[in-house]
Amino acid sequence: MALDRKATPNDLNAFWMPFTANRQFKKNPRMFVAARDMHYTTSDGRQVLDGTAGLWCCNAGHCRPRITEAIQRQAAELDYAPAFQMGHPVAFELANRIIEIAPRGIEHVFYTNSGSESVETALKLAIAWHRARGEGARTRLIGRERGYHGVNFGGISVGGIVNNRKVFGTLLGGVDHLPHTHLPAVNAFSKGQPENGANLADELERIVALHGAETIAAVIVEPVAGSTGVILPPKGYLEKLRAITKKHGILLIFDEVITGFGRLGAPFGSQYFDVLPDMMTTAKGLTNGVIPMGAVLTTAEVHDAFMTGPEHMIELFHGYTYSGNPIASAAGIATLETYREEALFERAAAIAPYWEEALHALKGLPHVIDIRNMGLIGAVELDPIAGEPTKRAFNAFLAAYDKGILIRTTGDIIAMSPPLIIEKPQIDELIGTLAGVLKTLA
Ligand SMILES: Cc1ncc(COP(=O)(O)O)c(C=O)c1O
Repeated sequence: MALDRKATPNDLNAFWMPFTANRQFKKNPRMFVAARDMHYTTSDGRQVLDGTAGLWCCNAGHCRPRITEAIQRQAAELDYAPAFQMGHPVAFELANRIIEIAPRGIEHVFYTNSGSESVETALKLAIAWHRARGEGARTRLIGRERGYHGVNFGGISVGGIVNNRKVFGTLLGGVDHLPHTHLPAVNAFSKGQPENGANLADELERIVALHGAETIAAVIVEPVAGSTGVILPPKGYLEKLRAITKKHGILLIFDEVITGFGRLGAPFGSQYFDVLPDMMTTAKGLTNGVIPMGAVLTTAEVHDAFMTGPEHMIELFHGYTYSGNPIASAAGIATLETYREEALFERAAAIAPYWEEALHALKGLPHVIDIRNMGLIGAVELDPIAGEPTKRAFNAFLAAYDKGILIRTTGDIIAMSPPLIIEKPQIDELIGTLAGVLKTLA
């Protein structure tokens, strides 16, 4: 039965929208009222091709029946169960299914409700883990410039997007940052992993020398940085980070909120790059974006260090009311089944070369200063309008929406990450429409 909702409410004032130019939006709203597979339907009845999988999360496309039905069934059977000191089978089953597709060596799942909460959880786990092993001085956290790790205090502290940090005070103490790996002077128009920049991982040795390894708990990086405008790891970079962290007893956390669940054509970035971290943070594609859920995945070594003391005692004083929520867990199982039955990770890998070629055909169009890609991720960087950074890309976003495609922009970078079900003609439509937009852009 169709939902009886007004397509556009009379008053848009009450909802303070996240990461949105509220005043601009409310003067000229862009409303989605329905979605199916690769398309959204707008309130004025247009079809918009989803070039971003919502917010990098609807990897199986929209309103997939198996997921919808699983949610409906679970809501009618067991709507909620206390998350502390009680269990329900669905959360355990989902954890087992996640571990089945996780890299070998990752054995445990701690549930959260979002990517931001996964990051906070992993950072807290890192500090507590060292303390549990008698190294309580290891409290420093190392992030990276231009990193995005959500919006909570830990995440913005280790993150490196200036606008996300600068108005929020002093943040966490004891944090340092690696340099980012965006090197357009030597890597522009790279297809896949850039050749130059692995040496930037050596900066970790400098940070270790500065603070002393015995004060550092963890390094957190995105294997491929998405929200900051698609920054790719140079060849050999992640391997070096792994070697240096291991050498100094520092935990390595991969923030796989975007790279998890098939985005690169492998279940996780860890498998794609063949680098095993100690923890992985996930969310988004875990439930196809349909129900909020995140998870921190850890090795046995991380988990087991907490499993000490009297058995009646809580081992970790951390968790959320909705950790492993039954409906989210059911959505997660149905999502993983959809990925498997439709072989969507393999599909993403198979179509990635076509995506790469289509994307790089935009080279030479007005304002395009770089194009980069990996798996089913693509970015087109534009020359900013002098004195008005971000405006050119935002104008491209608005024009693209008018022409029936959804893209995302961050700074003057256009980022795309379509659902893994995208077909070749839809890639042609997405990139062809974007080409038209770029040609008419001031
Ligand atoms: C790498 C990474 N970490 C964390 C987050 C935060 O996730 P959420 O918005 O679910 O809190 C995001 C969101 O885009 C992300 O890309």
